Amino acid sequence: MSAVVLKDIYKRFGAIQVVHGINLEVAAHEFVVLVGPSGCGKSTTLRMIAGLEEISEGTLTIDDRMMNRIAPKDRDCAMVFQNYALYPHLNVAENIAFGLRIRRVKKDVIASSIMEVAEILGLTEFLDRRPADLSGGQRQRVAMGRAIVRHPKVFLFDEPLSNLDAKLRAQMRAEIRRLHNRLGVTSIYVTHDQVEAMTLADRIVVMNDGRIEQIGTPMDLFMNPVSTFVAGFIGSPPMNQFKGTLANDAEGASVTIGGARISLPDTVPSDPGREVIIGIRPEYVSLASGEATSPVAIKLDLVEPLGSEALLHATIGEDPFIIKAETFGDVSHLSGLTEVHVPAAMVKVFDAENGHVLNREPTR
Ligand SMILES: Nc1ncnc2c1ncn2[C@@H]1O[C@H](COP(=O)(O)OP(=O)(O)OP(=O)(O)O)[C@@H](O)[C@H]1O
Ligand SMILES: [Mg+2]
Repeated sequence: MSAVVLKDIYKRFGAIQVVHGINLEVAAHEFVVLVGPSGCGKSTTLRMIAGLEEISEGTLTIDDRMMNRIAPKDRDCAMVFQNYALYPHLNVAENIAFGLRIRRVKKDVIASSIMEVAEILGLTEFLDRRPADLSGGQRQRVAMGRAIVRHPKVFLFDEPLSNLDAKLRAQMRAEIRRLHNRLGVTSIYVTHDQVEAMTLADRIVVMNDGRIEQIGTPMDLFMNPVSTFVAGFIGSPPMNQFKGTLANDAEGASVTIGGARISLPDTVPSDPGREVIIGIRPEYVSLASGEATSPVAIKLDLVEPLGSEALLHATIGEDPFIIKAETFGDVSHLSGLTEVHVPAAMVKVFDAENGHVLNREPTR
């Protein structure tokens, strides 16, 4: 059963169309993350699901019930925003209880719900405090508490962690996923941070300019991007991309980049002369040669040690080339590096004109 279904959804603000026909089925208990650059329509899509924006065209159903004309408060969605939207004059307990109180839930039920939610979120000792006297992470948890306490059918999150510093963000991210594992509430989560998307999602929806570019599991998007857009958005750092021309010789398909012949996987359709963009993930460049690898001469420009691994900033010909190497803490041997190896099987090939991938592997 699909909990939330968007069918041919369009959004227009006056004459300007910003969402151009979105189709998405979110399964019950699934955690789906909408990710994409600023202005691509993530919040607008989420707000249409919540009922905070009218749907210009198309249908939205939640548990098979048509929602287009249903008021936000009757959709059984709970939304968590970036700015938390807590009531400053109410304490934590009152903030959590607010939604229940306006729904006239009985006092003793409210009291036990507050205790239960506070327990889940580690807020028990803060129940008497006002939001101003809490840390950013604690405020975030109160906002979550207010959503959880209603036992909604669907959680909607719009960049809930972007006001937190990097460390707290990583911590709250894990807490949100743990909470999901425990409660199993169907969740749709908006972010422009691909790391959040990769770590939280059962499935990721990559949006680009009001359209869905690709839907898949985090690993599917990482291994099998359908386009240069997805390849350049998912991964940190993203996939290296080089322009080239397909060639075919006795050894198979290849592209020559900055004088180096890069062997391509045999899943690339034979089409000599075709202009392509090849994609090489920083993680799949090897410092040692191996079976079916292409040696590539590089100019190393900068080594950034990250601890157990390092980022190597290099160039092939004129093009920048970023390599992630496992170093186990020792980068001394890297300074003289002049050659790396690219495994043919890991190279992606995209059409240079429309950016579509030419060697898509079957979804695992
Ligand atoms: N009320 C509005 N009137 C006119 N245009 C709007 C309105 N709200 C949003 N837009 C436009 O719709 C597009 C999508 O906006 P949206 O807020 O959904 O982007 P987003 O993907 O959430 O971006 P961000 O990551 O910056 O939050 C943008 O071009 C925005 O300017
Ligand atoms: Mg937004």
